[in-house]
Amino acid sequence: MKILNEIILTDAEFILIQKLVFKLVGITLDETKKSLVINRLNKRLAFYGLSKFSDYIRIVQFNRDEAAEMVNQITTNETYFFREQLHFDFLQRHLEQMSQDRFVRVWSAAASLGAEAYSIAMIMESVLGRSRYEVVGTDVNSEVLKIAQAGCYPLPWVEKIPASYKQRYCLKGKNQHDKQFLIDPTLQQNVSFAQANLLDKQTRFGMFDIIFLRNVLIYFNDEVKSLVVANVVANLKEGGYLIISLTENLRNIANPMLKQVDSSIYQKVTL
Ligand SMILES: C[S@@+](CC[C@H](N)C(=O)[O-])C[C@H]1O[C@@H](n2cnc3c(N)ncnc32)[C@H](O)[C@@H]1O
Repeated sequence: MKILNEIILTDAEFILIQKLVFKLVGITLDETKKSLVINRLNKRLAFYGLSKFSDYIRIVQFNRDEAAEMVNQITTNETYFFREQLHFDFLQRHLEQMSQDRFVRVWSAAASLGAEAYSIAMIMESVLGRSRYEVVGTDVNSEVLKIAQAGCYPLPWVEKIPASYKQRYCLKGKNQHDKQFLIDPTLQQNVSFAQANLLDKQTRFGMFDIIFLRNVLIYFNDEVKSLVVANVVANLKEGGYLIISLTENLRNIANPMLKQVDSSIYQKVTL
């Protein structure tokens, strides 16, 4: 039992929250996440003026909007521009080798605040030009998607962006926005964001040449990982690439359609 601001999360309540979160988004919250749950859901209890988690759980069980709000609070959205440079080098090399007339579609499948999708777009626009590519970013968290759609970030985030891209695609804010920068709206035109749960098959987004599925599999057990990978691979063109994080692996995932071609990079093969 843990206490914070005098609100107690009992073991039975924690188990109910674990089950709800798992059912909604497939995330496994182990015992070590108890404080995180208390910290992050505290404000929802305050919002309703509740003093017991059991009352909040009842609201979540019967109110879809609050269930979505709980998911927004529980998901971890850490991200930054050009995270794991190796993958962006791979993307650049791959695009440079492509035939001149190909239109290329890339999916950032756990897009969070959009830094990954815009990093991809900067490379694609530089290599292919404006008319030959599209980036789609999806996430289950509706709040992070608002920031992704706005394309406006705190100024220190620009540090991770290579100088040439910074110059071309980032606009420094003025007056009340002087501590922020904006992704150039012309680049934003080729990037779209939508809410999607990786537990579901995604038929509305079409097929992709490359899928980035990075730093999200770590939250899933093997069974959910397997389902999520199968779901996204259904949207991957034959010969296309699936990229996971360097800190993740597909060791316990038997997916005969994926052949590992580099560390954390897989190609979809014909069976
Ligand atoms: C740590 S961020 C990774 C962001 C980015 N891919 C990167 O590598 O920097 C993980 C994201 O996965 C999202 N996520 C977690 N479970 C999800 C699910 N079932 N469906 C879709 N997105 C999910 C979270 O909302 C969060 O924004």
